[in-house]
Amino acid sequence: MNTNQRPESMTRITTPELAKAFIDEQVEALRAQIGDKKVLLALSGGVDSSVVAALLIKAVGKQLVCVHVNHGLMRKGESEQVIKVFGESLGANLIYVDATDRFLDLLAGVAEPEKKRKIIGGEFIKVFDEEASKLEGISFLAQGTIYPDIIESKGVKAHHNVGGLPEDMEFELVEPVKLLFKDEVRVVGDALGLPHNMVYRQPFPGPGLGVRCLGAITRDRLEALREADAILREEFDKNGLAGKVWQYFISVPDFKSVGVKDDKRYEGWPAIIRAVNTTDAMTATIEEIPYPVLHTITARITAEVPGINRVVYDLTPKPTGTIEWE
Ligand code: XMP
Repeated sequence: MNTNQRPESMTRITTPELAKAFIDEQVEALRAQIGDKKVLLALSGGVDSSVVAALLIKAVGKQLVCVHVNHGLMRKGESEQVIKVFGESLGANLIYVDATDRFLDLLAGVAEPEKKRKIIGGEFIKVFDEEASKLEGISFLAQGTIYPDIIESKGVKAHHNVGGLPEDMEFELVEPVKLLFKDEVRVVGDALGLPHNMVYRQPFPGPGLGVRCLGAITRDRLEALREADAILREEFDKNGLAGKVWQYFISVPDFKSVGVKDDKRYEGWPAIIRAVNTTDAMTATIEEIPYPVLHTITARITAEVPGINRVVYDLTPKPTGTIEWE
């Protein structure tokens, strides 16, 4: 039997009861597979790796070692949430690595998008590898592979993410959600008691804010982007748009325009709002955001975020615009 093939008889997990049955079955299977050995997991805080972590914690507790690498390109509050949920609430064996300086130093002066992606992907592997080699007695590597990753070999993750984990790592793989679709992973995440905003989080690219701080990343512009993005997300949440729009974020280009602030000339970067709907990210349409919400977002970003003096809304569908700006 091909274990990477979803059996036709497998019921789509749509209810808490079905999720519970899946969890019970997986906990048993994971215990049988892992025994008393140790498992390593790169925990990004995204839905898939979070659900895998929660399943493994339930199954083998402290035999799971989670490594969260903060590449300095996370959205506001994300690494903190990983520490809070997994390190504190679930009592996971969590290694937190703040590698911000390593990533930002390597990225300094690099403007070319694919080069930036390569650096981020490559450095991620290095940091993870270094942490893994400090650990003893690890036999398994857990991954948040989901069914679309298997069936769409030309899918988004495969296409964009340079690298992946080192191929020469001699671990046996543990992939408990590899036959699930995203919506099922979410139902399982809910049933495992993970926070709603973690389980229903919008997709976020592996290279994170690195592909939204356009051109060569600088720390001040990255910080402005992170703050502006947090305001956008907060206002979308408040105005009931978070569940309606598939992906929404800010990009900040590396040029300034003239503005006025406190009666003085104020040169700043523009914050570009992107808010799109799609089913497969291959094409995307523009969501109609009510003007009052756009006004509020603009007022808050220009008032609260140092360095930003304009907010613009990108109305370009895909094609011709890609979802990300780079
Ligand atoms: P584009 O910009 O190609 O994006 O229309 C389509 C979807 O892919 C996401 N994306 C990425 N995801 N690593 C990822 O894991 C990446 O390097 C990457 N680049 C784009 C993007 O956010 C959108 O959902």
